[in-house]
Amino acid sequence: MPHYYSLGKVPHKRHTQFRKPDGTLYAEELVSTHGFSNVYSLIYHCHPPTMIKEVGDAFSVEPKVAERKSMIHRSFEGFNIQPADDFLESRKTVLMNNDLHIVLAAPRESFSDYFYKNADADEVIFVHEGEGVLKTIYGDLPFAYGDYLVIPRGTIYQIEFKNKQNRLLIVESFSAIEIPRRYRNEYGQLEEHAPFCERDFRKPQDLVTHDEKGDFKIMIRKEGMIYPYIYGSHPFDAIGWDGNHYPYAFSIHDFEPITGRVHMPPPIHQTFEGHNFVVCSFVPRMYDYHPLSIPVPYNHSNVDSDEVLYYVDGDFMSRKAVTRGMITLHPGGIPHGPHPGTVEKGIGQKETKELAVMIDTFKPLWMTEDGRSILNKDYHKSWM
Ligand SMILES: [Fe+2]
Repeated sequence: MPHYYSLGKVPHKRHTQFRKPDGTLYAEELVSTHGFSNVYSLIYHCHPPTMIKEVGDAFSVEPKVAERKSMIHRSFEGFNIQPADDFLESRKTVLMNNDLHIVLAAPRESFSDYFYKNADADEVIFVHEGEGVLKTIYGDLPFAYGDYLVIPRGTIYQIEFKNKQNRLLIVESFSAIEIPRRYRNEYGQLEEHAPFCERDFRKPQDLVTHDEKGDFKIMIRKEGMIYPYIYGSHPFDAIGWDGNHYPYAFSIHDFEPITGRVHMPPPIHQTFEGHNFVVCSFVPRMYDYHPLSIPVPYNHSNVDSDEVLYYVDGDFMSRKAVTRGMITLHPGGIPHGPHPGTVEKGIGQKETKELAVMIDTFKPLWMTEDGRSILNKDYHKSWM
């Protein structure tokens, strides 16, 4: 997130003496990205963030690839991913490549005895079902149905779920998640033509300083492994912080759709981007209003990108037999398009209630074993 923000207390000058009421120093930490060349924040801890007590045995959470090369239209029954009590155990990668992992999760329980840090990837957590609070050293982010939670890599977090029924779509991005450059002016401000503005992005709030020593377990993910670290101080011990590197929330319900007289292409739905992929939001909107318009999208050959659609809610006029939580994968190299009968049926309709998240990747995706376990048979023949 490019905008400067601050919570709690920070000293007048960075890198200067900043003392607690007892006269000892707060511990300053620079959290920087791309070396020292991209956004960063300065955090003032009650205790140094380096007090390692123990490192437990690392274990692998690397997804198992079931099929690396494929050019077949696929559909997956996302809600067939089984719920699990534990957040980390609930995360199932269904599609992946070297740029991102696409993960489904149905966690039942809040974090209770550990914290989590993904040191590999920025995470975009789309909340399909559930509500609660994302807790970090930067403050709290309350979330609900339809929120995207963007968590920069290296952010230690916990999630408090309000109840047990939670469904999450998670994009793990091995590059920084950014707001598309074309939406921002040279000063980083969102331009008038963007489908959202600064007010739509919710920043952390209610910074609580946990000035606590003890044993604090942080599960740190790095290169497909989880390293259980025991630290001697509470990870949320900041008295204050400032900078441009922090988690934030954006609701898909705040995405303002861009419409036209004739069919508008997918880039108008773009919400986020990472290296070699984009994330788009399809939201309820008025249909095209040319008198001869065809609201249902045309057949198209996305020659060099794989197109993933995650169906959230509403009706999907161009597809048949869509269920909530379903994922379709239309690989680059072959065309796809509306299902038979849907084009004529759509003519004259004024609006759509569809809600969906699209992830387009510029490199082919690989199906994992967890993905294969929720595969719908013969989807590729569904246009006949
Ligand atoms: Fe498409």
